[in-house]
Amino acid sequence: MRIAMLGTGYVGLVSGTCFSEFGTDVVCVDKDEAKIEGLRNGVIPIFEPGLETLVKKNAAAGRLSFSLDLAEAARDADAIFIAVGTPPGPQDGQADLSYVYQAAREIAAVLDGYKVIITKSTVPVGTGREVERIIREARPDADFDVVSNPEFLREGAAINDFMRPDRVVIGAESKRAQDVMAELYRPLYLIETPIIFTKLETSELIKYAGNAFLATKISFINQMADLCEKVGADVHQVAKGIGLDGRIGRKFLHAGPGYGGSCFPKDTQALAYTARANGAPVSLVEDVISYNAARKRGMADKVIAHCGGTVAGKKVAVLGLTFKPNTDDMRDSPSLDIIPILQAQGATVSAYDPEGMEEAKKLLSDVTYCTGAYQAMEGADVLVIVTEWNEFRRLDMDRVKSLLSAPLIVDLRNIYSPAEMAEDGFEYLSIGRPLSAFMDI
Ligand code: UDX
Repeated sequence: MRIAMLGTGYVGLVSGTCFSEFGTDVVCVDKDEAKIEGLRNGVIPIFEPGLETLVKKNAAAGRLSFSLDLAEAARDADAIFIAVGTPPGPQDGQADLSYVYQAAREIAAVLDGYKVIITKSTVPVGTGREVERIIREARPDADFDVVSNPEFLREGAAINDFMRPDRVVIGAESKRAQDVMAELYRPLYLIETPIIFTKLETSELIKYAGNAFLATKISFINQMADLCEKVGADVHQVAKGIGLDGRIGRKFLHAGPGYGGSCFPKDTQALAYTARANGAPVSLVEDVISYNAARKRGMADKVIAHCGGTVAGKKVAVLGLTFKPNTDDMRDSPSLDIIPILQAQGATVSAYDPEGMEEAKKLLSDVTYCTGAYQAMEGADVLVIVTEWNEFRRLDMDRVKSLLSAPLIVDLRNIYSPAEMAEDGFEYLSIGRPLSAFMDI
């Protein structure tokens, strides 16, 4: 098998590399000369655990290569994946599909014999059909099928998610296309991964429905956390108590500062847009979108309240800036809402993040970026944990106390125990776990 992967962004690079690990010959194509040159020299443009090793290994084995030339990559390929960017369009929730359609036109120009053309980027319902139309219009004679094959990778766990997915969804409407896709994913049949074949539109919708459901699950537990704080209940136990019901499931019930990242915010907006445009609005998802946006901003108010109602003239130490651990991605991270509000209220902010600071520097101004967690805390009036990096889970609390000018902690990820923190003499505020929930046990 041989494939061309168009676009070496997050999805394209991870998918292309993992397919090569499965034994397929993969040529990753991009228009960015510097990026292709870098990749040829083993320079990985994104932070993803395990990716660099796999790229180098498969490149050395001759199964993975990088090219600027689509025509050359497409020659003899059984399949061409479109994994180019879909940036936000002019309206809320609308995706700019110009790169996808441009890719379709370029592919049309180089088709030589039967090929499967697969949309791997997350694209709105109807995009596959449009790709098909564009190619058919440009090359009425061409022999091809268009397939939708959404990815469900999580940043920071992408390699494992690709190699051992819960399921693979393939919108392929001809037997020939289904056979090519089945062959590409053959290693997953061996580990009995469910592979679902659907029509194009169903596959496209599965991706959005899945992400919107997860975003809803997170928002649900976040609202339960708000309620727990009022009634003296522990959200962690509520999550466990409901999650043990197999119909609900335990995953994605961690209360926190609101979801961020490159997918949930964008995909929920896109689903809401598609649903409105088709006259079947998804009001639940619309509520989730506005609640999550308000929640992220509301985290700043939590910090202000914990500091006695004002942060004017105070120094706030922030640990964690990325939207989640094990990534350098800052997109829609809660820190981007929280920090500017605290600054506008007169606080100075010192921050540390293991991987995200280069990106953060482009997005957050007037922040003192520190070389470690303890440096950020020096002389701070309050410590705020925004992202649950492992290295923040076992801080030396005596040292923390000696560095802070007041023993105030706001833990937006619930990585410490309220009872233990109270014992250690901290005024500790977390999410949905008021101290009163633990007092009588
Ligand atoms: C997500 C989907 O999980 C993945 O299937 C899809 O392909 C892309 O979007 P990702 O954005 O990388 O992946 O991260 P994920 O681990 O899902 O977390 C998303 C956000 O939700 C983060 O901000 C995280 O902190 C938050 N989250 C997640 C919670 O607040 N609580 C949870 O229980 C789980």
